[in-house]
Formats: sequence, C-alpha cells, structure tokens
Amino acid sequence: MSNHERRSSGWQLEQSAPEAYERYLVPPIFAPWADQLIETGDVCEGDRVLDVACGTGIVARRAASRVGTSGSVVGLDINEGMIAVAEETAAAIQPSIEWRQGDATDLPFSDERFDVVCCQQALQFFDDPVAVVEEIQRVLTPGGNVALTVWRPLDYQPAYVVLAEALERHAGDEAGTMMRSPFPVWDGEDLRTLVQEAGFDDVSVTIEIGSVRYPSVEEFVRREAASSPLAEPIAAVDRELRDELIQAVEDALYTYVDDEGIVSPMESYAVTADR
Ligand SMILES: C[S@@+](CC[C@H](N)C(=O)[O-])C[C@H]1O[C@@H](n2cnc3c(N)ncnc32)[C@H](O)[C@@H]1O
Repeated sequence: MSNHERRSSGWQLEQSAPEAYERYLVPPIFAPWADQLIETGDVCEGDRVLDVACGTGIVARRAASRVGTSGSVVGLDINEGMIAVAEETAAAIQPSIEWRQGDATDLPFSDERFDVVCCQQALQFFDDPVAVVEEIQRVLTPGGNVALTVWRPLDYQPAYVVLAEALERHAGDEAGTMMRSPFPVWDGEDLRTLVQEAGFDDVSVTIEIGSVRYPSVEEFVRREAASSPLAEPIAAVDRELRDELIQAVEDALYTYVDDEGIVSPMESYAVTADR
C-alpha cells in the first residue's frame, strides 16, 4: 500500500479519547515516566499512595506493584471517561486500586491519609495549581512525599512544536492551542515557587530527559489526535488537508526519522518535597 493510499483511508475514530489515550499515549510516553515518578516519590512496600489526576491510571498501577498487599493505592481524576478506562485496565491488579472521580482542588480524603502523593503531567491543567498542591499537603502524612512531573516548555519538545504548528495551520487555532496546552511556560524556579507557596519548604526540582517513539510520522499525528479532547473535529478534517498536515510534520521532523519510525526528545521537570 502506498503512503498516499494509506493516508486516504481516513482516520475513523474506533474508540473514545480515553481509550485511545490508554492505547496510544500511555505505552510510549506515560508508562516510562510513571516508573521514574514512583522512583522519585520513593514509593515503598506498605505505602498508602494517592495518584492525583490519574487519567487512565498508569502511575497508580505501577505504584500498586510496589506497595504490595500491605499498602494501598487510590487514583483520582475529574474525567469520568478516564476513570472508567482506569478501572477496566486495572481490573486484575492486586492489591486492587480504589478509583475516585473528583476534583483535585477539593480532595475527598481526610487529613494525613497518604504516605506518598504522585501527580504526573496534570499540574499544568489545573485552574488553581497552588490550591491543588495545598490539598496534596493536607492529605499527606507528616514526613510523606509528594512527587510531581510537568513537561518543560514547548521549545524543549521538538516533535510537539512541529505538531502544534501544523495542527494550527491545517486544523485550526483550537487544535494548535490544545496541542500546546500540556507544555506550560513555567521554568524550574516557577515550579519550585508554586510548590513552596502551597506550604512545602524543601523542594527539589530536576530536569529529566526522555524520548518518544512512534512507528511513523503519520501514526504520531493520528495517535496524538485520536487521544486528544479534539479527536472528533481533527478526524473530520478534509483528507487533502490531513495529507498536507502529515507532509508538513514529515518535512519538519525529517532529522528525527529513522529505520523504526520517528523518535524525538521529551523533557520534563520532576518536583519532589517532603511534608
Ligand atoms: C495529561 S493527563 C495525565 C493523566 C495521568 N496522570 C497520566 O500520567 O497518564 C491530565 C489529567 O488531568 C486530569 N484533570 C484535569 N483537571 C483536573 C482536576 N481539577 N481534578 C482532577 N483531575 C484533573 C484530566 O482529566 C486528565 O486525566
């Protein structure tokens, strides 16, 4: 099948955005970072762990395998669809994970309930991130750890700069803004200040450099689009425009194309503090 025929077959949405997120984004992006996050948060056997804004639950699942049956894990997210996929994906995991739908700015837990609170790539989406970190502090036991990750700005994410620009040009401003939204303009000091404002004293911030790989540029664009809140409007884009979009991304990212598809660096801040 030629590239053109493949592209012209269209992007049918066979699944919901949360299902696509779990299938397409978790394995190449969020799973490797989740392993690192629970390492940073020093999750140990017997710990009571909260995964704030858990999405489809990758951090909670990784934490469950660490804490064993003497510990416990709760995952909380505001999005019902994400929680539904989290529940289904973790059905066979022991110890079983408790899933809660709720708002991170008003955590439905008593004070000092957890030993470790993790929050992977979500602080940038909260209307009031300081209020969320205050809540995290409230539910942490004295001596407990918080571990957060937040992507570095778009300039440090070569594949996503190009994808955001191409989406803006070919699918509209809203699509471009959506693809930029995971990458806030915060630097490490902004993050340290934010976490200190919420009441943590000794805050550590490190820069972590990873990568993301997809089997082709087309799959990179298709999978990212299918997993986003704008999946439907992007899938509805005219085929010719979609081919132009993929071509623009291919042209701009040719230096990252190899025999196995496309690979690009991704950089994140990791923030930790003790209560
Ligand atoms: C990029 S996803 C990260 C999900 C997950 N931490 C992971 O690593 O796969 C951001 C998540 O933040 C959640 N979220 C946004 N605002 C929230 C809020 N106020 N309270 C709880 N969750 C929220 C979204 O529903 C989404 O699942």
